[in-house]
Amino acid sequence: MGNCFEGVSRPGDGRPKTPTQGFKVCVCGGAGGIGQPLCLLMALDPRVWELSVYDLTIAMVPAEGIGADLGHIERKCKVKAYSLDTTQKPVDHLQECLSGCSLVLVPAGVPSKGRSKSDLLKINANIAKSIVEACAKFCPDAIVGLIVNPMNSVVPAMAKLYEKAGLDPLKIIGITTLDVVRANKFVHEETGAPIETIRVPVVGGYSGTASGPSAVSLFSQDSVGKSIPEKRQIELRARVQDAGNEVVDAKKGKGSATLSMAYAASRFASAVLAGLSGVRTVETAFVKCSIHPGVDFFSSRVTFGPSGVEHVHPVGNLTAAEKSLLDEATKYLAEDIRDGLIYAQNAD
Ligand code: NAI
Repeated sequence: MGNCFEGVSRPGDGRPKTPTQGFKVCVCGGAGGIGQPLCLLMALDPRVWELSVYDLTIAMVPAEGIGADLGHIERKCKVKAYSLDTTQKPVDHLQECLSGCSLVLVPAGVPSKGRSKSDLLKINANIAKSIVEACAKFCPDAIVGLIVNPMNSVVPAMAKLYEKAGLDPLKIIGITTLDVVRANKFVHEETGAPIETIRVPVVGGYSGTASGPSAVSLFSQDSVGKSIPEKRQIELRARVQDAGNEVVDAKKGKGSATLSMAYAASRFASAVLAGLSGVRTVETAFVKCSIHPGVDFFSSRVTFGPSGVEHVHPVGNLTAAEKSLLDEATKYLAEDIRDGLIYAQNAD
């Protein structure tokens, strides 16, 4: 695969202009298990004016079918679909699909089942690279939200490639909202407290395919979560970390977390679009930052504003147990980040 980043110039002032009619959003991998419900949620988002659905011609359902289906929904959103023949290079064919996009969501890739982490990284990083190269060319100001495992490695790899091309690495963001969504739900089930009052921060890396447990739920920082006995907090923290497998097992290996992931990604998208339109909004995300010692990428609460990532919030006060878990998680995360950066270094 050639390097299509070369010659890409740095975008003007890095501030996408807010289109008056709304935003154009693309879902790459839009015909997949996560992609389809995510496209639906995006088509329903009042801030989305145009939705591009992009997938390969070999996808289970043609992207054009998803586009035609969504196009009948009685919302203002205009839906267009694009399929890529695998003999073509995305960077040569995605101009119309990506041009004008403010946000590109990427649930594209292969599942982890049966693959080693390094094989998965090679396959999924190549897929992500082909899409990110096209974004660099046709929508360099857009926020690119990645839902590609192993996320702890793929995000640093793609951010590094953006950086090498003179683009802003903070445009590349890992969507880790699902960990927060799960932590909130588990605390709600445990306590019965109203779900809208629960906001459990989850920091570190992402719970999906990683070297080890890298996502740490900080129950002590939530007014409801901290009322849960310490012993039970330990169990719930482990459940958040392993929740993806709970879904895979319940689906008897025939699928993974697609619906909850689509919901979580739409929560992320809504925060990004609110920020771009001038309503500063805080949402958890995995980004390049130096808020935690020993790692250059970290998942934490992020303030999104008119230019995208404005501020990555520090971790805050931790209990002794949380600190020790985060120290452990940071070691796994550092390993995953290193693998991603090696991929970027060797990418042609
Ligand atoms: P899926 O196999 O149902 O869908 C993936 C879609 O991506 C397919 O439609 C496929 O044709 C498309 N695709 C593959 N290569 C492409 C390319 N170069 N350009 C455009 N589209 C391409 O898989 P699913 O379950 O939707 O998962 C998608 C990704 O999300 C995977 O990388 C997986 O590792 C990750 N994932 C993450 C989860 C999480 O908890 N964060 C949970 C489940 C999956």
